[in-house]
Amino acid sequence: MKKHYGNVVLVTGASSGIGKSCAEYLAGLGFRVYGTSRKAPEPREAAAHGVDGNGGDAAGNTVTMIRMDVCSEESVKAAVDYIIDREGGIGIVINNAGMGIAGSVEDTSTEEAMLQFDTNFFGVHRVIRQVLPHMRKKGRGLIVNISSVGALFPIPFQSMYVASKAAVELMSGSLRNELRQFGIKVCVVEPGDTKTGFTGNRLFAEAGGESSAYYQKSRESIAVMERDEMNGPDPIVVAKAVARAIGRKNPPAFITVGMGYKLLVFLRRFVPRSLESFVVARMYKC
Ligand SMILES: NC(=O)c1ccc[n+]([C@@H]2O[C@H](COP(=O)([O-])OP(=O)(O)OC[C@H]3O[C@@H](n4cnc5c(N)ncnc54)[C@H](OP(=O)(O)O)[C@@H]3O)[C@@H](O)[C@H]2O)c1
Repeated sequence: MKKHYGNVVLVTGASSGIGKSCAEYLAGLGFRVYGTSRKAPEPREAAAHGVDGNGGDAAGNTVTMIRMDVCSEESVKAAVDYIIDREGGIGIVINNAGMGIAGSVEDTSTEEAMLQFDTNFFGVHRVIRQVLPHMRKKGRGLIVNISSVGALFPIPFQSMYVASKAAVELMSGSLRNELRQFGIKVCVVEPGDTKTGFTGNRLFAEAGGESSAYYQKSRESIAVMERDEMNGPDPIVVAKAVARAIGRKNPPAFITVGMGYKLLVFLRRFVPRSLESFVVARMYKC
């Protein structure tokens, strides 16, 4: 594969699911991959003890895991500085770290909504702000933001999650235009339901318990989501889509993963929004 953006990749949220698959797949293609997790060694410790490899392929290409909490500016800066010190630059960033909070809009507290946005939206913003000065200096780079097909649809009881991803998509579009002058590319990847740790890691709005007016409907709806995720494809399909984008000098602004989802996103253009909303409601038992 032609390495248009250099050899160094940062993947946030590489301890499981899509991020882990991306990190291992790219390491297998010969990239120098740094993956992050909130449980990995602090960059300083990693430097002192020799960095732990994690995953990798039969040829021994490993992923270097370092700690990063995307909700902490300090933590993001420490991880990015560490990679810059070791490698002199970061060519590709895959903003993948994320999670979901389920519950009705009414039951979701402002704190819960803010946690959702702090991770999925501001986390992406924090990482981008730290890496861009280095990419601008080199005059090249690729930022891949992992969104979701859900960003395009009004999925009930996932409002804060889909809103955070929709915000990532619009920010990415603006960023893509701002960075044209510097030769830095931005690409949004939209996976559909994928079998990962996401389902088990999903948080629930605290007020959404049995006493909530939404309890029954929200449980039925969330059960559909959980079933679809657990029946979804292995995250390697997303990793391969990301790798294809990396292999292109001019990656598309948006990549939807999977033929079924591509078709859905295409057909959506021809469907009135009220009909779309009705179909989504039916799919999720509302
Ligand atoms: N699975 C799906 O169906 C699906 C569909 C569309 C889009 N996506 C998106 O794909 C991305 C990856 O999710 P996944 O499905 O692979 O879920 P996952 O298996 O739960 O992995 C989530 C990753 O994000 C990391 N993470 C979570 N909060 C973090 C924080 N505050 N700081 C740093 N890292 C954090 C986790 O690392 P640690 O816990 O080790 O820190 C973990 O490595 C997410 O952005 C998700 O929204 C998933």
